[in-house]
Amino acid sequence: MKKGFNLSIIGTGYVGLTTGVGFAYAGHRVICMDIDKEKVAKINAGETPVYEPGLLEGLRDAKKKNLIEATDDLEYAITNSDITFITVPTPEKKDGSCDLSFVEQVSKDIGRILREKEGYHVVAVKSTVIPETTERVVIPNLEEYSGKIPGEDFGVCVNPEFLREGSALRDFLKPDRIVIGELNTRSGDILEMLHRDFGAPILRTSLKVAEMIKYASNSFLATKISFANEIGNICKRLGIDVYEVMKGLGLDKRISPHFLRAGLGFGGSCFPKDVNALIHKAETLGYEPRLLKEVMKINQRQPYRIIDLLRKRLGSIKGREIAVLGLAFKPDTDDIREAVSIKVVSELLKSGAEVRAYDPKAVFNFRKLFPNITYCESARDALKGSDACLVLTEWPEFRELTDEDFSSMRERIIIEGGKALNPNRVKGFEGICW
Ligand code: UGA
Repeated sequence: MKKGFNLSIIGTGYVGLTTGVGFAYAGHRVICMDIDKEKVAKINAGETPVYEPGLLEGLRDAKKKNLIEATDDLEYAITNSDITFITVPTPEKKDGSCDLSFVEQVSKDIGRILREKEGYHVVAVKSTVIPETTERVVIPNLEEYSGKIPGEDFGVCVNPEFLREGSALRDFLKPDRIVIGELNTRSGDILEMLHRDFGAPILRTSLKVAEMIKYASNSFLATKISFANEIGNICKRLGIDVYEVMKGLGLDKRISPHFLRAGLGFGGSCFPKDVNALIHKAETLGYEPRLLKEVMKINQRQPYRIIDLLRKRLGSIKGREIAVLGLAFKPDTDDIREAVSIKVVSELLKSGAEVRAYDPKAVFNFRKLFPNITYCESARDALKGSDACLVLTEWPEFRELTDEDFSSMRERIIIEGGKALNPNRVKGFEGICW
C-alpha cells in the first residue's frame, strides 16, 4: 500500500470537512480539528455537521478504513501531522473587509505548538484570505509564536479551494487545477507531492498570487452572473429568452457556457463576501474598482425584480398568500447564507403578504431567521390556496411539478427566478429574465 501523508485540517466547515474526507479518500490519514465540540462528536460518530452530497458516505468509508478522526485538541492535531490546512472562516465585516481574526488566532496557536514539534511541518492556508494576509499575518504569527525560521524550520503555502457547495467533494476529487502559492520550493514540493495523483494541472506561484487567484476567480464568476442578469433584464423587456441567448454565447470557447445562468443573482457564503473584500482592499490601495462595484449593485437589485413582476401581475400584495418554492441559496444544499430568499421573503412580509414556504433541505436553517411564516411539507402543499407562486431555487424536484400540482392555487400566477419548472409539464408561467 502506498504511504499516505499525515494531515490535519483546522476548521470543519464544508471546505474543511470536504478537504478532510477528500484526502482520506485519496489514502492519507486525516485529523479534523474544530473548537466546536458538538461538531467533533458528530464527525466521530460518522455524521456530517453540514449537508453535502457524498460527504456522509465518504466520511463513513474513511472512518471504516481508520483514515479520519476529529478532535477539539489543536495540539494533538498538529503534533500528529506533517501538513496542516487552515480552513477556518473569514467572514465579512460590516465595512465589507474580510475578518481575519480566526486566521490570526489559529496561526498563533499553531506557532505555539510548532515550537515543541520536531520535523519539517508545512502550514497551508486554504481559508480565503485577501492578498498579503499570509505574508503579513500568518507567517509573522507562526514565526513569533514558534520561535522558528519560516521556510527553513517550517514551510508555508497558500492552497486556495475552488469547491462549490452542493458538489464540493466532486470538485475536490476532480479539480480543474491546483494552485500552490509557496514561501519556498521545499514547502511547494511537499504540497505538490500531496496533490500529484489528482490528475489536474498544478500551478506553483507566490503566496500573494495564489491568494489573488482565488479572489479574481470568484470575482470573475460573479461578474459573469451579473452580466447574464443585466442582459436578462434587457431581454425581458424585449420578450427574448436570455437562456437561448446565453446558449449562443456559451458555444464560443472563449466565453464558455458556465456561470451564465441569469436569475435572481448570486448568494452564498463566498461570492458576495469575496467581491466585497476585494473592493475594500482595492479602495485601501487607492484604487476605485468600478466594475466590481457595479457587479455587486446589479446583484443587490436583482432579487427585487421578482417582487416587481409579482406586483405588476397581482396588484397589491397585502394580505395575499404567496407560495415560495426554494429557500436554499442554490440547489443541493441546506445553506441559506446570503440567499435571495431572505430578501424576497423579507420584502413580501414587509408588504403584508402571507408566506407559505417549501424547501427540500433548508427549512431548518430558514426557520431560525423567519420563525413565523408557514412551512409546508411539499411544493404541492405550499401551492394550496395561494394567490401566486415564486420559484426561487432551481431544485431538480421542481422540474417534476405538473399543471395538476398548481391546480389548487387560488390565482394562477407563477413566476420563477431561474429555470426551475419544466415547460412541458407546466403551462402559463414566466421568468424574470425571459
Ligand atoms: C463558489 C465558487 O463557485 C467556488 O469555486 C468557490 O470555491 C466557492 O464559491 C468559495 O469561494 O468557497 P458556491 O458559493 O458554493 O461556490 O456556489 P456557486 O455554484 O458558485 O454559486 C454561487 C451563487 O451564484 C449561487 O447563488 C448560484 O445560484 C449563483 N449562480 C451560479 C447564478 O446565479 N448563475 C450561474 O450561472 C451560476
